[in-house]
Amino acid sequence: MPTWLFAIFALMAFIVPAHAEDIAEKATLCASCHGENGVPIDQTIPVIWGQNAGYLYVELRDFKRGARTDPIMSQMATGLSREDMMALAEYFSKKPWPNLGQKPADAATAERAQVIANSAQCSQCHLAGFLGASLVPRVSDQNHDYLLATLRAIRSGERGNNNWMTELMKAYSDQDMAALAAYLAGL
Ligand code: HEC
Ligand code: HEC
Repeated sequence: MPTWLFAIFALMAFIVPAHAEDIAEKATLCASCHGENGVPIDQTIPVIWGQNAGYLYVELRDFKRGARTDPIMSQMATGLSREDMMALAEYFSKKPWPNLGQKPADAATAERAQVIANSAQCSQCHLAGFLGASLVPRVSDQNHDYLLATLRAIRSGERGNNNWMTELMKAYSDQDMAALAAYLAGL
């Protein structure tokens, strides 16, 4: 092997773990809210462990672009490069979804939610068990208070990074949203 090639390999070996360490360091910051073991410190904060990588990336990108805004996350995303966001999305998607210990919705609530889910064909995109894939988020067993708040924000357009979801949610009342959040959280 020519020495210069050897030097490049040696340099790569040095750079790659350094970058991985960098991501692990950034992820430590995320853990202060999204949870060290994947359970967020607060019910209003979403689970990101085990979430689909494509979706995680798109949300970070949208926070950075300003297409989705949140006082904390908009700030967080400004310091991240595209590579950071892709690496963080990969990193968190590979973690197991945590057990939040949320209780299943009662029968009447579940039935109301299922009627809505069938009429709106949620599973066309969110798939079986609401696990999503790629750019479509997993919403089953997501934190209840976060789900309710984000469904409302999507409906009002305050969270306006997906027009389709906004148009869809306009058809539903506060009680419908409450039923959906309780049902999804308990899946
Ligand atoms: C100080 C607390 C805090 C920190 C630190 C933090 N987040 Fe967040 N994160 C939040 C909150 C609160 C939300 C919900 C925002 C909303 O309601 O729109 C959120 C939302 C998100 C979402 C959207 C999830 C979804 O289901 O739509 C992603 C992705 C995310 N955070 C990733 C990260 C990453 C990656 C880091 C580290 C670089 C990080 N967060 C650091 C509090 C935090
Ligand atoms: C045409 C496809 C499609 C349909 C139908 C659909 N969704 Fe979505 N949904 C999405 C996509 C894509 C996103 C992510 C939007 C974004 O990038 O912010 C999303 C986001 C969400 C979120 C926010 C998740 C989070 O972590 O912040 C919830 C909750 C949700 N959908 C619930 C539902 C429910 C309940 C239904 C049925 C009433 C439904 N969706 C129907 C595609 C769809």
